[in-house]
Amino acid sequence: SIPKFVKIVEVGPRDGLQNEKAIVPTAVKVDLIKMLVSSGLSVIEATSFVSPKWVPQLADAKDVLEAIQCVQGAKFPVLTPNLKGFAAAVAAGAKEVAIFAAASESFSRSNINCSIKDSLYRYREVAHAARNSSIPVRGDLFTNFLRYISCVVGCPVEGAVSPSQVVYVAKALLDMGCTEISLGDTIGVGTPGTIVPMLEAVLEVVPVEKLAVHFHDTYGQALSNILISLQMGIRTVDSAVSGLGGCPYAKGASGNVATEDVVYMLNGLGVKTNVDLEKVILAGDFICKHLGRSPGSKVAKALSRI
Ligand code: HMG
Ligand code: MG
Repeated sequence: SIPKFVKIVEVGPRDGLQNEKAIVPTAVKVDLIKMLVSSGLSVIEATSFVSPKWVPQLADAKDVLEAIQCVQGAKFPVLTPNLKGFAAAVAAGAKEVAIFAAASESFSRSNINCSIKDSLYRYREVAHAARNSSIPVRGDLFTNFLRYISCVVGCPVEGAVSPSQVVYVAKALLDMGCTEISLGDTIGVGTPGTIVPMLEAVLEVVPVEKLAVHFHDTYGQALSNILISLQMGIRTVDSAVSGLGGCPYAKGASGNVATEDVVYMLNGLGVKTNVDLEKVILAGDFICKHLGRSPGSKVAKALSRI
């Protein structure tokens, strides 16, 4: 059976934009985030506190986060690869941070320039800092320490990734206090044939309510993979408005599954999301116009013809 409510984590402003070559003005990013909030999305990954040399598009992380400080109604987690990023995020008002480890050694090196083992060491430091920053940050308590494992079924360099590699990293993230672990098919090669055994293995060590799935739609498999994940009890799904996205360090990776398409499917299944499809489409139109591109969501395209 399928959960009655699914939490959608909108990653468009971060995963969606990080790979865009032309720098999107801060004001456009902020307007996009505000439109996404008004659609009812309750978690919107806003940006990353990473090296601007590695991801130039997100060099304005501080400005983006500061500009949305007073926006009510959603949480705005940000990516932090190390203590430096964590400190900058907290100083800019972050109340949730997401770390990102990989299940593949090669991808860890190309994405964050260190081995999986070293990354876990670094993330333990970040976790420790996050726990200790129960010092009030701008009047609020720092709350959540979250998230990613990339390349959970396939790596752009190594090919197939075994479930045991994912389990190893998932266990480490759980032990260091991650309250939510998102399993990322970074290059979108997974099918239910590979996703199911990976999820079965991870579910042996991580409680289902702490898991999220993060699918890229490179091979058109994302909705099938989401459906099978829901059938296995997962209640948190990542997606990006208009299917924006791709990782700069994952050659050939195309966009995330489109939020519009996920909401349409969940509406069809009678699963509640509290997200207004029309308003997500408007947000998608807004950012696609800015990027000079037609909508990457099939649902948005279909509805625009009616
Ligand atoms: P490094 O070059 O090994 O770092 O990068 P370093 O410690 O040697 O420092 C080098 C320089 O970077 C120094 O500056 C540091 O101060 C600076 P310099 O002295 O040369 O002027 N630096 C920083 N600056 C700003 N913020 C920071 C920071 N840290 C160091 N946090 C590092 C290591 C991790 C920083 C780098 O590799 C990096 O930023 N990587 C980020 C890559 C990234 O953002 N990838 C995309 C996100 S992951 C993804 O998309 C997958 C996901 O969606 C899930 C899925 O799809 O499966 C999450
Ligand atoms: Mg991604």
